[in-house]
Amino acid sequence: MAKVVVTRKIPGSGIKMLQEAGFEVAVSPQDRVLARNELLNFIQGADGVLTQLNDKVDESFISAAGANLKVVANFAVGFDNLDLPALLSHNIVATNTPDVLTEAVAEHTIALIFAISRRIVEADKLARSQTLEFGPSVLLGMELNGKTLGILGLGRIGSRVAEIGKAVGMEVAYYDVKKNSEFESKVGAIFKITPEELLAVSDIVSIHVPLLNSTKHLINAERLKMMKPTSYLINTSRGPVVDEVALTQSLKSGVIKGAALDVFENEPRLSPGLENLANVVLTPHIASATTEARSAMGELAAKNIIAVLSGQSPLTPIKKP
Ligand code: DGY
Repeated sequence: MAKVVVTRKIPGSGIKMLQEAGFEVAVSPQDRVLARNELLNFIQGADGVLTQLNDKVDESFISAAGANLKVVANFAVGFDNLDLPALLSHNIVATNTPDVLTEAVAEHTIALIFAISRRIVEADKLARSQTLEFGPSVLLGMELNGKTLGILGLGRIGSRVAEIGKAVGMEVAYYDVKKNSEFESKVGAIFKITPEELLAVSDIVSIHVPLLNSTKHLINAERLKMMKPTSYLINTSRGPVVDEVALTQSLKSGVIKGAALDVFENEPRLSPGLENLANVVLTPHIASATTEARSAMGELAAKNIIAVLSGQSPLTPIKKP
């Protein structure tokens, strides 16, 4: 009987699907990120592993699992935790969970945009303090209608954020390595040929690129200075795309107006000083955290494992970025 290891409990019926497919399924009894040694012990003898984005899958993982390992199904659309060349060299299939979380992540991105531009977190604290009444100049924010939403990375999630932004009256500009004329005419979006051009015209910059060598610290001190001093930076992609120390400094010194972040360079830790700033809204990597998305992610990961271990093609294999 093939053995499938699930490194952390997941919502929905993914685990049941694996059990009903006739596999021996071992689910981590700990509802937390496993320490490296716990993880490597737990995956021994697995034919398939359902991994989390905080499980590093590299040569040591592959050798700990052993020679039977055929599939690693990542419970995430991002896959920067996987060493793809290593997996490929051992003929192990890698899969991710695209599409099923697009809506959840896009909605969270929009929630962050509203939260930072209308100062919702600051206002919530003040309302709870029961000291602040209506005042003509109290907690002024920025309207989105007519402002420019700059999308950095026009993949599935970036495109959906752009559509919702358009629906609330924003102008949409985007930068991507590929120009998308069809999307431009559908949404009325404007292509900027460099990230720098996009930063210069945007009131809100929302990041939707994968973490690759080429996107690490894409937003650094120099590029932050190219943004408008009245603008906001939103990141729901991966923390290391932004130089968080440079961002913290820029927020302190007023280079940009504010930031709303769901992802961080060294999760769960924050760069020193970030947590004390009033002009940031922070959430702990929860952009895909809806019951709908997380259940569908588990089910898709399970389907991928079932397919590979039954000798079929996976539904969502990871293609080389
Ligand atoms: C992903 O799937 O890559 C997201 O970061 C999860 O929220």
